[in-house]
Amino acid sequence: MRLQEALLAWYRKNARPLPWRGEKDPYRILVSEVLLQQTRVAQAIPYYRRFLARFPTLEALRDAPLEEVLKVWQGAGYYRRAENLHRLAQAVERLPRCFAELKRLPGLGPYTAAAVASMAFGERVAAVDGNVRRVLARLFARENPSPKELFALAEGLLPEGEDPGVWNQALMELGATVCLPRKPLCPACPLKAFCQGQGNWERYPRPRRR
Ligand code: ADE
Repeated sequence: MRLQEALLAWYRKNARPLPWRGEKDPYRILVSEVLLQQTRVAQAIPYYRRFLARFPTLEALRDAPLEEVLKVWQGAGYYRRAENLHRLAQAVERLPRCFAELKRLPGLGPYTAAAVASMAFGERVAAVDGNVRRVLARLFARENPSPKELFALAEGLLPEGEDPGVWNQALMELGATVCLPRKPLCPACPLKAFCQGQGNWERYPRPRRR
């Protein structure tokens, strides 16, 4: 079985049911991804629901006073993220439809832009977050891959004729639940037959110096 089929089959069976799974609205995906940048999934879920109940659209967010946005965000931490979302809502009438333009918005790095572009619009672009970085470093036995190299490796894996948003989430899910930073569950991994770092997972990626 091809690597792509192996991961997608695993994902269909094992994906955690999260409230943003299958979401197609770019604004709702953006909110989930901004929350997940620095907040763990379990903690992010109630904030995701609360934020979207109060600000269901970009327009609703634009029209709300910043103090109220910050209040709804209260407890999620890193308030800069809420400020950036609010600023973004003032800056554009609607979210752009492609990766290149999304990346230019305030507060959106390449990861978030790629996540929104692939999940909402089906654009074939790789989304490399911390989890995906670890999966790729092990899969390709890279000790210290540069962001550019990681992006190229991830682009090379994007399957043809499959939803790139689903693919990106499958890689993230593997990193979040199987290819763990410590004690990865290699025997249960759908990619074990393809993994060049297997048996040496602790070498890849090399811990970053702080
Ligand atoms: N971490 C970042 N984005 C995620 C997503 N869409 N699902 C689960 N975990 C994530």
